[in-house]
Amino acid sequence: VGEVLDGKALARRVEAQVIARVAALGAQGVAPSLHVILVGEVHASDIYVRHKQRACARVSIGSHVHRLPASVTQAVLCGLIAELNSDPQVHGILVQLPLPDHIQAHIVLNSVDHLKDVDGFHYINAGHLATDRNGLAPCTPKGVMRMLTEHGVTTRGSHAVVVGRSRVVGRPMAAMLLAEDATVTIVHRHTAGPARYTSQGDIVVVAVGRPGLITPHWVKHGAVVIDVGINRTEHGLCGDVQFDAVLDKAKLVSPVPGGVGPMTIAMLLENTCEAAERQLTRRRDDL
Ligand SMILES: NC(=O)c1ccc[n+]([C@@H]2O[C@H](COP(=O)([O-])OP(=O)(O)OC[C@H]3O[C@@H](n4cnc5c(N)ncnc54)[C@H](OP(=O)(O)O)[C@@H]3O)[C@@H](O)[C@H]2O)c1
Repeated sequence: VGEVLDGKALARRVEAQVIARVAALGAQGVAPSLHVILVGEVHASDIYVRHKQRACARVSIGSHVHRLPASVTQAVLCGLIAELNSDPQVHGILVQLPLPDHIQAHIVLNSVDHLKDVDGFHYINAGHLATDRNGLAPCTPKGVMRMLTEHGVTTRGSHAVVVGRSRVVGRPMAAMLLAEDATVTIVHRHTAGPARYTSQGDIVVVAVGRPGLITPHWVKHGAVVIDVGINRTEHGLCGDVQFDAVLDKAKLVSPVPGGVGPMTIAMLLENTCEAAERQLTRRRDDL
């Protein structure tokens, strides 16, 4: 039987480090603050934003939520972002996804100052990631990388299989694993016989959004399995991995809830500090 990879405990350790960084910024007269823009009423988004605000409070990062109606125009939304971009008291800006259909998400995300882009979704930050430069990186895959390093999982020379290729998780995940010298395979909806690939993975990261997709048959003995999926079912929250069955076969498996979710939020706190530090020292070279 494998070990459960406790993301919640690790997130608390990251928060302790963030508290020290916030204090160091405070000593230089900077009070880091995160501004979240929430458009419309999406129940899951409400929950995520509440978790983010609570996490900010735990580490003394200021957090502000700007609520806009679902009918807001793209121009008004981008206007708010422009105001926040030019406000030196604002260090991080996050536009909660999904946005309503009449708004073009990529235009909105690219209107955020890339130095304040704590989600790492701006083209410039995506470009930095794709070219191995040190920009602001997306929180979820960054959190997965931290889970692997903290648990002593070797990426160099390992075969890592990423299931899912979204811009938010799968693609940046594959880029980060590649940057850490893994041999990376990406599996998606059109992959023929996906289990052929996943069952060869030393590391399997799953970000699809289909409960129970990953059965033991998809996983090799002794693999490390990271479940990014969040699915709301009538029995509560679950991931994409058949947790108990896969745990019997794997070396390490992250649970849902209590795995990647808390680490994603911890990385958001880290990115907010990182953004504030870079704005302070004008280290624009890398960003
Ligand atoms: N824990 C966290 O903090 C966190 C953060 C973000 C997301 N999530 C969760 O992670 C999951 C994925 O999120 P996302 O934003 O990446 O979702 P997404 O944009 O819907 O992307 C899902 C990906 O899965 C692929 N896919 C769909 N069915 C598949 C199948 N049967 N076999 C292989 N690949 C398949 C899709 O392939 P195609 O590209 O070919 O369509 C797509 O690339 C969701 O459950 C989401 O709630 C969790």
